[in-house]
This record gives sequence, structure tokens and C-alpha cells, in this order.
Amino acid sequence: MEKLVIEGGLPLKGTVEISGSKNSALPILAATLLTEDECVIRNVPRLRDTLTMIKLLKSLGKTVDFTDNVLKVSQKGKLNHVADYSLVSTMRGSFCVLGPLVAKLKKAKVSLPGGCVIGVRPVDLHLKGLKALGTKMDIDGGYIHARAAQLKGRHVYLGGVFGSSVLATANVMMAAVLAQGETVIDSAACEPEIEDLTDFLIGMGAKIKGKGGPRLVITGVKKLKGIKHSVIPDRIEAGTYIILAAATRSNLSIKGADLTHLAALTDKLEEAGVKVFEENKILKVKTKKTIKPVSVTTYPYPGFPTDLQAQFMAMMALCQGVSVITDKVYPDRFIHIAELNRMGANIRREGVNAIVQGVKTLRGAPVMASDLRASAALVIAGVAAKGKTEIHRIYHLERGYENLDAKLSAIGAKVWREKE
Ligand code: EPU
Repeated sequence: MEKLVIEGGLPLKGTVEISGSKNSALPILAATLLTEDECVIRNVPRLRDTLTMIKLLKSLGKTVDFTDNVLKVSQKGKLNHVADYSLVSTMRGSFCVLGPLVAKLKKAKVSLPGGCVIGVRPVDLHLKGLKALGTKMDIDGGYIHARAAQLKGRHVYLGGVFGSSVLATANVMMAAVLAQGETVIDSAACEPEIEDLTDFLIGMGAKIKGKGGPRLVITGVKKLKGIKHSVIPDRIEAGTYIILAAATRSNLSIKGADLTHLAALTDKLEEAGVKVFEENKILKVKTKKTIKPVSVTTYPYPGFPTDLQAQFMAMMALCQGVSVITDKVYPDRFIHIAELNRMGANIRREGVNAIVQGVKTLRGAPVMASDLRASAALVIAGVAAKGKTEIHRIYHLERGYENLDAKLSAIGAKVWREKE
């Protein structure tokens, strides 16, 4: 195992290039199960999670070539219907092979993904949607055993206690595209990653109306074909580097990001006194010495993303004044508070809120990465802090940030890996 060591406190400058979106790539890779034809997908980030999805596709009978960031998925024989615990348990994104397997094979045995440190993360909405289309499901030995004679289009409401669900929308959409008749999904997730999946499916020959909105109308077709597609930029990676610029009071350029996907973040940053604007297709982040404290509540898209909450908290930890951070998507996603406090932050949890009392400086410390975005918050804090920070369990970071060390070094951060 390795740890990430950061010598903090250095000013940053230069340009960061954003990779393809992890959370777009994962369901899109699952969607390749819907056709025997070859799919060529560009801008796929090389991450632990995409490599896990590739392993899963191979175990299901696909042939995969991943060179640079281009993925070619093809199929010679028949698909296998079993998605193994060892692959699904490590990454929730792999649960979205369930919809395509049921649609294509009329049966699937997919391991339940289980809970994780950011909350319980149930799959009831996935199951509700697939059942509505005519899938019979039992749970046995930690696996979903799904069977369907013929999937039939239905009206499905996918709103849950915490709003819409990204991967449940993906799963139900991918089943509905090959179902008989019309499916209407209400309270569908509106995240850009779902829009990207919709584009991918339409390119394969699916009939979907309402792209990007909360009501998707899907008319099933008999067969889907291969496609060439390029994955959208990772808005969470872009947001992380934008927040890094603000937290370190640096001016950075961000290349390859889509500003339209970042409105909730840039709005909050403007309130804090940080400007983000586009110039010749490059995002510029202009930061002042003093940043105002700003309170944030996360919501499903287009609200402020839960996947940027921890990073924003690290930045607020260094603002003079008090801010309140609330996560309405994952109300327990606060494991990073204790680790940020180890670095001298003053954050306390009060029920569903984190109260951040800004401090002048953070000090480097040994800290533990607990999940992907909490780890990104620790990187931001470490780069902004005075002294040396050691982040343990960095495999979490490798799940979602392509070439993190190289990208940070290129903008002037002092970052290296050491063996534990
Ligand atoms: N939920 C239910 N029932 C369900 C599904 C979800 O109650 O059947 C709840 C969840 O517990 C949560 C809320 O609904 O409170 C939203 O969860 P959602 O289903 O939208 O999350 P997800 O699809 O499992 C994706 C991303 C997450 C991101 C969330 C929210 C992927 C692979 N993962 O997860 O990304 O936090 O949407 O935007 O797309 C990350 O990248 O670090 C990450 C955790």
C-alpha cells in the first residue's frame, strides 16, 4: 500500500486538464451489454473504478481493449448472467449491469452492492423500477436473482426519500430501451451523466424523449447497434480543482471542463468572492486573499453536488467566519470532519448540519482517506496547509481522480507517494 505525502503551503499556478467523467463512463460501459456490436468509447478515464467495470464486462463475456483513453467493447460468444460479489461489492456503479442483463438475457444474478461509509445506500428504487417493467426478483445469498419473460413498458415513479437516484434511473432506462411498448420514468435523475447515457443509448438506436429532464419517455425497440461515443468531462474532478484553487487562494486555468455543469458551484463561489469564467474554452478561476464564508446544502442536480460537499468544506475551513454545510443527498456523509479537524480545522456536526468555524491556517498531519470525495477534501486541505500531510489508504483517490499526482505537480504542488 502507498500513502500520498504533500508538502503544503505552496502557491499554485498553471493549467489542469480534466479527464472524462467516471460516473458517466460506468453506466455507459454497462450499456454496451445491450448490443453484440462493437462500441468504441473515447475519453474514458483510467481509474480503479473503470478498470473494475472492465473486469466485470470481461467476466460477463465481453472482449475489451483499453488503449490510452479509448475503450473498444465487442462480443464473440454468449453473455454470462452472473455479476460476481468480488466485483460488485467494491463499487456501486457495477450494480447498473442489472438492467442491461435483464433486458438482454431475461435473467441476471447480480450481487447486492452493500452499504458504505457515506451512508446506507439502498437499492429499492432500482428494484421497484425493474419490477414495474415485469422483472421477478428474489434475494438469496446476497445476490439479486432476476427473471423476466418479456419486459413491458410501464409508468414508473423513481423519486425516493432523498430525491431522484442516478444509478436507479440508469438501470431502469437500460431495461426499458429493449422492453415492449412505452415506459415513462417520472422523477428521473437529471444529472449530466444520465444525459450522457441517454445520448449513448439514442446513438445505439434507442427511442428516448425528454433527455436531461425529470420525465423520460422511452419506446422500446427490438435491437440496439454499436456506437462511437465520447464521454463528457468529469464535472466533479473539475469542481475539485476549482475548489483547490480557491482554498489555496490561487488562480488556475481548467481545460476541458463544461462550465454549464457547474452552475451550483460557481454560484456559491461567486458568493464567496471567487470568480470562475470561460475564456477561449478554458475556465479561469480568480481568487482573492480573503474568501467569505458561504453556507451550502447539497441536492440532486442541478443543485449543489454531494460529490463536492467535502471539498467545499475543506475550503470553508480556511475562511474567516462561520458556514453551515448540509447534505440532503447523503445526510451522513461527514466522515471527513474528524480528519479535517486533525489538521486544525474547527468543524462540528450538529444533527444534519456541519458547522464550520473558519481558521487562519491548517497544519499538515497524518490523515486517513475514508471515501473518494472525503479523500479529495484531504488533498485540498493538505495542499493548502502549512507543513507535511500524509494521506493513508489512497486507493480511494485512485477510484476517481486520473493522474492526480501528476496533475497536482504540474500546477506547483509538492506531492509524492511513499510505501506505507
Ligand atoms: N437511494 C435510495 N434508494 C435507491 C437508490 C438511492 O434511497 O434505490 C438514495 C441514496 O441512499 C441517496 C440518494 O438516494 O440518499 C441518491 O443516491 P443515488 O442513487 O443518486 O446515488 P448513486 O446513483 O448510487 C451516484 C454516484 C455517486 C453520487 C450519487 C449522487 C455513480 C457511480 N455514483 O450514486 O458518486 O454521490 O450518484 O449524486 O454514478 C462518487 O463519485 O464519489 C459517488 C459516490
